[in-house]
Amino acid sequence: MSESVEHKIKELSKIIEEHNYNYYVLSAPTISDFDFDKLLEELIQLEKEHPQFAFPDSPTQRVGGQITKDFITVKHKYPMLSLGNTYSEEELKDFDDRVRKTITEPFEYVCELKYDGVAIGLTYKNGKLVQALTRGDGEQGDDVTTNVKTIKSIPLTLRGTNFPDEFEIRGEIFMPRSSFDEINREREEIGDALLANPRNAASGTLKMQDSAVVAKRNLDCYLYFVLGENLPHQSHYENLLAAKSWGFKVPDSVIKVNSIEGVFNFISKWDIEREHLQFDIDGVVLKVNAYDQQKTLGFTAKSPRWAIAYKFKAQRVATLLESISYQVGRTGAITPVANLKPVLLAGTTVKRASLHNADIIEKLDVRVGDTVFVEKGGEIIPKIIGVDESKRPVGGGNDLFATALPPTKYITHCPECGTELVRSEGEANHYCPNELECPPQVKGRMEHFVSRKAMDIDSMGAETIALFYDAGLVKTIADIYVLKKEDVLKLERMAEKSANNLLAGIEASKQITFERVLYAIGIRHIGETTAKKLAYYFKNIDALAAASVEELLEVGDIGEKTAQTIVAYFADSRNVEIITRLKQAGLQFQLSDEQLTNTSDKLKDLSFVVSGVFSKFSRDDLKKAIEQNGGKNVGSISGKTSYVIAGDNMGPEKLKKAEKLGVKIISEDDFITMIN
Ligand code: IVH
Repeated sequence: MSESVEHKIKELSKIIEEHNYNYYVLSAPTISDFDFDKLLEELIQLEKEHPQFAFPDSPTQRVGGQITKDFITVKHKYPMLSLGNTYSEEELKDFDDRVRKTITEPFEYVCELKYDGVAIGLTYKNGKLVQALTRGDGEQGDDVTTNVKTIKSIPLTLRGTNFPDEFEIRGEIFMPRSSFDEINREREEIGDALLANPRNAASGTLKMQDSAVVAKRNLDCYLYFVLGENLPHQSHYENLLAAKSWGFKVPDSVIKVNSIEGVFNFISKWDIEREHLQFDIDGVVLKVNAYDQQKTLGFTAKSPRWAIAYKFKAQRVATLLESISYQVGRTGAITPVANLKPVLLAGTTVKRASLHNADIIEKLDVRVGDTVFVEKGGEIIPKIIGVDESKRPVGGGNDLFATALPPTKYITHCPECGTELVRSEGEANHYCPNELECPPQVKGRMEHFVSRKAMDIDSMGAETIALFYDAGLVKTIADIYVLKKEDVLKLERMAEKSANNLLAGIEASKQITFERVLYAIGIRHIGETTAKKLAYYFKNIDALAAASVEELLEVGDIGEKTAQTIVAYFADSRNVEIITRLKQAGLQFQLSDEQLTNTSDKLKDLSFVVSGVFSKFSRDDLKKAIEQNGGKNVGSISGKTSYVIAGDNMGPEKLKKAEKLGVKIISEDDFITMIN
């Protein structure tokens, strides 16, 4: 029986990984998302019932859920070097001359894109991914294996047979532009600062503590370098192709050329085509192909002499700054925007550019009427990088240095509602504090309220909200629940059927669980995960509303700023009134009975490391039980850990560490006794 379950689990894992490969590496899925989810569900269920067969390379690992408090630092087997940079074709030519001086026989260059993300080193033993390390300082990096396993294009088990028993493969983890845009949309909704670019987003994500969040962020990885003792080929390109056959994502853009002219062609092609890529690149990399020639060329202290990066120049033009306008975002953040005399830049006409914030305007001393330099770098929105002072019109009078242009005065009041702006210490942006009445903020809050992960009223999009708001029908989220059919029908484009749909959607939202309602009401800095934590900790809104900053800090992972925001939110009588009205409308402001059974605070102030395989719980359920009883999951053992729950096959290293630090080791049964 158990043999056949094990067999079934292995077969199912294989099929699921094959689909992952088709979808994420080949971009050629052969199954619907629905059917895929069914397979995965089946595997999750089987592993739950037979946790002794939940293997570390199971595709269920890609769902995440493990928490890492502190990432362990590990020494690299081979140091992780960086590349020399050049910015001009002359410098590349010099590089080629240097190579030619040392290598007199024919040689090839491999041309690759320079992916703009975070470097990663992956170690495989016997075809299984065993470790993923960040670059760190090049000598040692952080172990981010748990998070990396959630990246679906990275194989957990290799395909084929001709891979070495042990090897390392390096590449770049990046965030596709579409995922980056979506995350920023979500951050904007809850009032969190936007991520600057996909690279920062990728590196921040990789170091997140909760791997379930990493799993949702759609990171991807291109591989560019294979290292090891017994590689199948004696050259870089051929080993990359081999790696591709083992299931790694090696892009088709990689080519081999035999002259520097070939390299120049590659550069010209990608300097133009990079705009159409789904991810950012910041240049190209060229590498001498044959290992024996690489060896002859050797290394400098920091980088190989057989490879170099050519960085694309950011394209830049000068144009006239005609005016500065100020936009109010959904969260009240003010963004100054430069209105420019239209100018052609990197293939598109640019009319507007971001001026970021007051500090940048002051630092650059940008004035309306100036000729400014505009640049398109890694970011999609062009930015102003400086002023051509020589073009600034001179003023009259005796003062030789006087100019005809007055310095820019940043606005003091909101252009939408007239409220005086505020700027908190340490923050770059000015904000309009009139959260509850400033039109773009009110509409933004409503859009967040109805969104899929919040109240999920999908018949009510941004346009409908604008219609309702502009017609004076809804001024706060509470007004949504008193909408009448006759009011709805009065609006443009609202026929009987759409009105019915809308009202049904609103009615259905009354069943949405407390943690999602808490997320939906849009307290600044409260994302999905925090809302869930708060909901389980306080169990109902009244207890949360009564909590002090100190009490809020007791909830794991809530910082001072968030705690203060929550207290301030409930101190505002207008928010209290909205919540009272929503309560009256029948929304869920407490955990359901089902959610309440299985919760307690028996494990308050205790932290747990879960290790090994269990017979009564799956690892995920065990962790859930810890959280639901008020305890905290941590990824690695430290002196502060309260207990290690040890299952079968617990790693000997962990056991040693726990014993050394005097952390109590308990069994699954001891744990059950604790919570009952
Ligand atoms: S090769 C010894 N190839 O650029 C050679 N690096 O400073 C090691 N990068 O940290 C690097 N795309 O993260 C190589 N096709 C590519 C690359 C690439 C991006 C990154 C890598 C490295 C940095 C080089």
